[in-house]
Amino acid sequence: MRHSASNPSVWEVVIEFHRPEMEEWFVERVTALQNVGMYWTVRGPVLSAHVFTDAPPEARSLWEELARWDPEVQVRQRILKYRDWQRQWQRRWRPLRVGHRWLVRPPWREARPQDRDRLPILIEPRRAFGTGLHETTQLMLRWMETLAFEGRTVADVGTGTGVLSIAAARAGAQKVYALDIDVEAVEEAQSNVRLNGLTDRIECLVGSFEKLADESVDILLANLELEPLIEAIPAAARVLRPEGVWLVSGIFRDHGPVFQAAVRSSPFRITGRRRRGEWMSYRLTTKRKGPR
Ligand SMILES: C[S@@+](CC[C@H](N)C(=O)[O-])C[C@H]1O[C@@H](n2cnc3c(N)ncnc32)[C@H](O)[C@@H]1O
Repeated sequence: MRHSASNPSVWEVVIEFHRPEMEEWFVERVTALQNVGMYWTVRGPVLSAHVFTDAPPEARSLWEELARWDPEVQVRQRILKYRDWQRQWQRRWRPLRVGHRWLVRPPWREARPQDRDRLPILIEPRRAFGTGLHETTQLMLRWMETLAFEGRTVADVGTGTGVLSIAAARAGAQKVYALDIDVEAVEEAQSNVRLNGLTDRIECLVGSFEKLADESVDILLANLELEPLIEAIPAAARVLRPEGVWLVSGIFRDHGPVFQAAVRSSPFRITGRRRRGEWMSYRLTTKRKGPR
């Protein structure tokens, strides 16, 4: 969050809500506001968004709207000094172990000695999705540790911060296409790729499957939502090599059957599924060959 010298304080607004399916909607609305920062905490079934803003009235309409969908929504606010906000923000980001293989960390935190054999994924948290904290990202990273990446070509459609692309390159992928339709996300992904020293193997591009028109890949990664995933099926079938694997995440649990039905009438079959919290994730291969 940028800060004006004339306003030395920042509001922290903590919004607790009980309908995790509202999360995507909420993130979209918060990130459309000027000059806000945010992080999430989770306690049991309650999800809290910590929104930092120097213009709370602008943000108010958001939780008023949210309360129409989730009557249990709770809002607390307090004023912080700008320095405190910075400190709270940085303290919040600790190295995060995911699965057996990965350590997602901000550049200002070193890995602890016991984590030094994990593959580091340096992410500077800003606006884009993909700090490693979200269950949908964790589902992808856990699937990814079951695949061999050495020498492979990978496409990460909906790269956000670039977290999955960086993981793929760290695991040995020879070439990774990091794609996102959001220009700012691609800028962030590019900056994180530089931070990890992987610019020679990860190409960040604004766009989606159309950017892979003449390419085929061994591994396709897509942490999107239900509808873009279903829409992506024909393009994924075109881009993925016959022996390839497609990992998907970002499907709200209740929507799992809709996705499975869409896959049934496609060139893919589901060869694995996992759930974390309210989220589903799948491993797919093409129907053309025997079991893989
Ligand atoms: C849930 S985030 C995933 C970020 C990161 N890959 C992760 O796993 O944490 C989804 C991202 O996909 C992007 N996106 C949405 N629809 C897309 C599409 N059809 N093609 C490419 N990117 C898309 C969004 O802009 C967003 O950055």
